Amino acid sequence: MNYVRNTWYVAGWAQDFEVNKPASITILGEPVVIWRNSENALSALEDRCVHRLAPLSLGRCEGQKLRCMYHGLLYDRSGAVAEIPGQDLIPPNAKVRAYPIREKHSWVWVWMGDAAACDESVIPAAVGYDDPNFILGHGQMDYAAEARLINDNLLDFSHLSYVHINSFGANEEWARRRPKITPLPNGVRVERWLMDTAGTSRVSFTKPGERYTRYEFLMPGILLMTGGVFPIGTSERLKGEAPDLDLAEGAVTFTSQAVTPMTAKTARYFFSWGPHRKHGDAALRDTLMGIAHQAFAEDRTMIEAQQRVIDMTLEPRIMPTGADRAITLFNQLIAKRVREESSKASSATSGLTAAVG
Ligand code: FES
Repeated sequence: MNYVRNTWYVAGWAQDFEVNKPASITILGEPVVIWRNSENALSALEDRCVHRLAPLSLGRCEGQKLRCMYHGLLYDRSGAVAEIPGQDLIPPNAKVRAYPIREKHSWVWVWMGDAAACDESVIPAAVGYDDPNFILGHGQMDYAAEARLINDNLLDFSHLSYVHINSFGANEEWARRRPKITPLPNGVRVERWLMDTAGTSRVSFTKPGERYTRYEFLMPGILLMTGGVFPIGTSERLKGEAPDLDLAEGAVTFTSQAVTPMTAKTARYFFSWGPHRKHGDAALRDTLMGIAHQAFAEDRTMIEAQQRVIDMTLEPRIMPTGADRAITLFNQLIAKRVREESSKASSATSGLTAAVG
């Protein structure tokens, strides 16, 4: 799998990790057990007992520790075996991998790369469901498709005009009007002005206007999107530049979305969406979430079918169009980071070989 390792992947919604209930998730092909102890602290370990490889996610929480419930090895939060029932000697290599883990913006994030390089400051500024400014609903769904295809989908909203006719009620303006795309150190920013608000969303807002949307798509696959509706003529007055969202007349919403590669051909997709408190209430949030579930199921139908065609194709090749610019930029960024990581890993290996030799 060509994915960056030295980055934070979303492992789940914070509220789904209950105290003393280990949960499993596969990220980048690695089984990970996550648990929250009675002091509410989260831990993440390789979900594979050193003894006979049983999953620790079937284990039992004991204070700060986790016991494998096959033959009883007890692990501490660093992944070291602290007890082997009926045996005093604990081999020095009796240890599973521990992953850095953080709870932020209502998500639980796991660092899949070198723990020494772990940097909490690069966790994207998602808006959690505990944010007082927004009234958010949230959900998730699993894909039988590689995460890269979902990232590609989220980087090119021209598909709204065709995939989401029924859910979002999107018209062809999404496909015909090219967005402004700005490369960022850690991703890309995509901004659009849409002139016909009636045909850009199924949700009806107070009065006709021009819709501005902006999202950032950040490493490793995090979408943070907001926008609002402005009086007709605003985009011309601003010469197509970004408006002050505080001056929006309606429809200011926020959605945070995350794509987590589980295996080479499966992924988990997390999403939240809802209105700013000044522009909506719980009823609007519920309407938006109903539309979101319908729309994201439409995406999944298309992307899983796309994956099946790719799998049947001997040498899959694509033919990019002008709408693919953000996809190209983001995938170039990912490829560059993957190359950097693999060249660092191979120089570390050759250094080790030289030292041993
Ligand atoms: Fe875990 Fe035996 S497999 S204790």
